[in-house]
Amino acid sequence: MSKISILGAGAVGTSCAQWALIKNLAKEIVLIDIIPDLAKGKALDLVQSAPLFGYSGKIWGTEDFSAIKDSNVIIITAGKPRQPGISREELLNINKEIVKSCSEKIKNFAPNSIVIVVSNPLDAMVYVAYKITEFPKNRVIGMAGVLDSTRYRYFIAEAVGISPKDIQALVIGTHGDHMIPLVRFANAAGIPISELLPQEKIEEIVKRTKFAGGEIVSYLKTGSAFITPGLSVMEMVESIINDEKRLFTCSVYLEGEYGIRGVFLGVPVILGKNGVEKIIEIKLLPEEEASLKRCAEFCKNLISLLNL
Ligand code: LAC
Repeated sequence: MSKISILGAGAVGTSCAQWALIKNLAKEIVLIDIIPDLAKGKALDLVQSAPLFGYSGKIWGTEDFSAIKDSNVIIITAGKPRQPGISREELLNINKEIVKSCSEKIKNFAPNSIVIVVSNPLDAMVYVAYKITEFPKNRVIGMAGVLDSTRYRYFIAEAVGISPKDIQALVIGTHGDHMIPLVRFANAAGIPISELLPQEKIEEIVKRTKFAGGEIVSYLKTGSAFITPGLSVMEMVESIINDEKRLFTCSVYLEGEYGIRGVFLGVPVILGKNGVEKIIEIKLLPEEEASLKRCAEFCKNLISLLNL
């Protein structure tokens, strides 16, 4: 059994810990936040549910980053969340410093861990963690594609009236307005959605998927989504810890795959005990390829603003 550390005890960090507990993923879950006592309080509330779930591991909170020592997986959720009228990109500078500081701690205390970044703007923040930790690229991964693809799957399921379990679909590219919900590959138990839904409905779903995070922010007003983001992270962690080799879209460092180099972008990958074990290159249509190149340019611009 493993040790998972979660940096940031806000809504997403707490949701990650809760799903890890429900899935019984680790013998030890450490929740860390710089706000005094916040992580302690959240961890205590979580661990007190253990008798109801039959969870027998340990969950504890602290402000002391040295507690991440010997973690198998570390999740960075720390940072300012989105708020109405604030795009993920506008969080760049403030969250850069936070992710940088978390990454320094990870490099120092848990040099063998696998890092999953959730803070926004995602594809730039995972780049910060990659640069600062200097970990090999298979051990620094951004969570966004699982969330975006899950939302896409849900909207399709709702429209078709089929169980969400039977819908498969993937969203690639950036975690932002340029994301690419691929239509060609979306299916219900193998049946392409173009057989099940009119073109206008598909277009509507694609649009809703792209702005699904913002839709929730506009309702919550004080922050962004956290329940499905937390579970999306834990699906990735589960595949890593149990070496399941699941296929997910994750933000990974590209070095020539898809003709793109030097940025993190969401593409399909296999996750196992070594983190990213393989990047799957699918043959894209010219317009899909052009959209992915646009995402890469967008990320390059963000990275250039980081001054790392
Ligand atoms: C969202 C935030 C987490 O998409 O980026 O809900």
